[in-house]
Amino acid sequence: MRVIIEKDYQAMSKKAALLVASQVRLKPSSVLGLATGSTPLGMYDELIEMYEDDEIDFSQVKTFNLDEYCNLSPENPQSYHYYMQNNFFKHINISPENTHLLNGMTDDVKKECKSYDRKIKRSGGIDLQVLGIGPNGHIGFNEPGKKLNVRTHEVELAEETIEANSRFFDTKDEVPRRAITVGIATILKSRRILLLASGRNKAKAIRETISGYVSTQVPASLLQTHPEVTVIIDEEAADLI
Ligand code: GLP
Repeated sequence: MRVIIEKDYQAMSKKAALLVASQVRLKPSSVLGLATGSTPLGMYDELIEMYEDDEIDFSQVKTFNLDEYCNLSPENPQSYHYYMQNNFFKHINISPENTHLLNGMTDDVKKECKSYDRKIKRSGGIDLQVLGIGPNGHIGFNEPGKKLNVRTHEVELAEETIEANSRFFDTKDEVPRRAITVGIATILKSRRILLLASGRNKAKAIRETISGYVSTQVPASLLQTHPEVTVIIDEEAADLI
């Protein structure tokens, strides 16, 4: 694991965007695994700026997002469909048919999960997977537990995640209890992984990810088994390492 500590959120975002940009320049048809949440927002802004300055071309890029809430329509501002569209896709030259998100509105979750894994495989696999991290060490929506489901699957969100994500909703009751997420195996099959974290509330999860035991109780610790992981964090998130 390569760990890069940047001064603050802005510097972390800039560094992350440069890493994504170098991947796309090296391979213009890169398959990117993308994350949501507040952490990658600065990185998306930096990438949009690079696109506007003609420094990066997304015309051949394909993307697969990590997760989506169940039963939130794509028009719902809290859905990850809405997030990706408004915070990134509509500002760059990516073809809509090259962007993929799980359908949280589906009647047949199993079929949706299988077909998503198949699409990732058919695209040649993820070249660079961007990850945020939950305060409890979750990646995507792979929550801590005795067992982890390695393939794309439906999950029941941990109470801590519902609490953490309630800041985006008017009330905690509005946070969906279920989501669909790509599994750990799909994440670990990516050729390169970029994990981002910012803020003191991520410090414990970052310490456990980088130097704790590899355990399903801290899903991000499984990244220690991957040969090409870059962790970019700010000083606050690095507080306990
Ligand atoms: C959500 C997402 C994760 C994300 C995490 C951290 O639960 N499913 O993919 O990494 O939140 O979010 P934030 O960056 O807002 O702290």
